[in-house]
Amino acid sequence: MLQLQAPLPQRYVDASPDELAGWIASAKAALGPKVFVLGHHYQRDEVMAWADARGDSYRLSVLAKERADADYIVFCGVHFMAESADILTSDRQQVILPDLNAGCSMADMADLDEVEEAWEALARTTDIERVVPITYMNSSAALKAFVGRHGGAVCTSTNARAVLEWALSLGDRADDGAGGRQVLFFPDQHLGRNTGHQLGFDEGTMRVWDPRREQGGLSDAECKEATFLLWKGHCSVHQRFRPEHIAAFRAEHPDGIVVVHPECAHEVCAQADQVGSTDYIIRAVEAAPAGAVLGVGTEIHLVNRLDAETPDKTVLSLDPLVCPCSTMFRIRAMHLAWVLENLVEGRVVNRITVDPDTAAWARVALDRMLEIT
Ligand code: 13P
Ligand code: SF4
Repeated sequence: MLQLQAPLPQRYVDASPDELAGWIASAKAALGPKVFVLGHHYQRDEVMAWADARGDSYRLSVLAKERADADYIVFCGVHFMAESADILTSDRQQVILPDLNAGCSMADMADLDEVEEAWEALARTTDIERVVPITYMNSSAALKAFVGRHGGAVCTSTNARAVLEWALSLGDRADDGAGGRQVLFFPDQHLGRNTGHQLGFDEGTMRVWDPRREQGGLSDAECKEATFLLWKGHCSVHQRFRPEHIAAFRAEHPDGIVVVHPECAHEVCAQADQVGSTDYIIRAVEAAPAGAVLGVGTEIHLVNRLDAETPDKTVLSLDPLVCPCSTMFRIRAMHLAWVLENLVEGRVVNRITVDPDTAAWARVALDRMLEIT
């Protein structure tokens, strides 16, 4: 859950970029292998410069787990990522989020009360034993635990297809042969819809569950018949990309390659040359021939970094007016300096913890994902 960040001491606010860089370097040197700094691909460059490892949300959590010698994991990303790292790391390791206000607006679009209400409503209209809950990694630990308790799994944008195939295949094993199972997918309707289409399902098999409306805004028949019940959530960064952006890019760069994240709307993904997760986008840029022009639909810091780091290719944002992810953007060098200098003094600030019961059930859902993929 989002917590409020206390104001930083004025010394950090007033410091110049060079001063902050000096303080961070000294603190990291003093802490040595006790601290491991992780940077999500959407972080600002002034933060990414200090990351011991870069990655997407899941990879960073796994890296944190593998660095068992690090007492402190400083997670430069958003709240749900730090929670996942706490779930996967040992009890001895402490996970720190440099700014407590760095949440994810999409993850906040589904909370446990709303999902439990949806589950109860579905149980009144459909055979709830046949519904498999799947949560995107971008969700609170409480929702991952809900999914673990109810026989479902977590997915990431990399493995959503395999996880949904698994969920639907459970229906084939039903004793009464009564057909496939239903999936309740949250919180991102777009990832759910895009993956459903990838699996060959059409729009008619999908219904949007609106948590603000009675019974999700659906009739009894719609609840019963839909294969995919897609939570009405979205990423405000990726939802901004429109088919018109692709048309304008193609008009200017007829040989250009369009690569978008599956959090974009289906009409955008349908027109892209390639669709994939943050890591996939990075590999697509690497794989493109020298001289290629790529139009990318994802967060602007990653797009700009890819452009800077692959000088033989041109990497452009599909949306010329794209905004950064405002929550990822919250973490600045001053926050990093503040948490690291506190660690040097023996104080842990901004620790993120998940209670043991929630963590145990969330781990069940994460482990299921790992078994499937
Ligand atoms: P990744 O899982 O690719 O890191 O994406 C996280 C995210 O927030 C995308 O918007
Ligand atoms: Fe959340 Fe979207 Fe930001 Fe990713 S880009 S952290 S989904 S708000």
